[in-house]
Amino acid sequence: MRKYKIMNKIKLAAFASHSGSNLQAIIDNIQNGKLNAELVAVISNNSTAYALERARLANIDTFHISSKTHPNEIDYLNTILNILESKKVDFIILAGYMKPIPAEIINKYYNRILNIHPALLPKFGGSGMYGMNVHKAVIESKEKISGATVHIVDEKYDNGKILYQESVNVDENDTPETLAEKVLQIEHKIYSKVIKLISEGKIVL
Ligand code: GAR
Repeated sequence: MRKYKIMNKIKLAAFASHSGSNLQAIIDNIQNGKLNAELVAVISNNSTAYALERARLANIDTFHISSKTHPNEIDYLNTILNILESKKVDFIILAGYMKPIPAEIINKYYNRILNIHPALLPKFGGSGMYGMNVHKAVIESKEKISGATVHIVDEKYDNGKILYQESVNVDENDTPETLAEKVLQIEHKIYSKVIKLISEGKIVL
């Protein structure tokens, strides 16, 4: 594994598709001084994602990039790469991003793309396992615990090295919605925690 040591304030680009509550937690932790990092760009495939509004409210540059805005694959890739390079991004954080990351970006930012997943990987990961689908599957499987996982993004969906997990009890009367709520609370804590550990050199990638 290549060593990556952070010397200065860590620069982050977030990719988000929907509400962006994980993004908000990171913005809040940066603003209240708990996280020594800078969010330099928020990219979304969805022009109406509330994540973009959250970023604008925090004066972070936003970009709407999708296969509709950039139908040519090379153009799509280069547009994203140009943003990441011009803003000198150290880490990409996926925060509810529902599109695959092109292989060229995964290779270029190897070990520097993080994702948060709303279950205890390797359980309930892989194709089709995103958002509420995950919580429905956990409830249907009658699991007693679930949780959240922060992991490295590699070329296989939900497969990269697990950096941190925290669990939560699944109660008998939990629904996918109540479980999602409980798991989100954990997500909001642990994503910043992992980024902090990386920025302090306590997780070396
Ligand atoms: C979060 O629960 C996140 O773990 C999940 O989408 C939600 C986004 O919420 N991501 C995945 O399922 C990725 N496989 P948010 O937009 O409020 O942060």
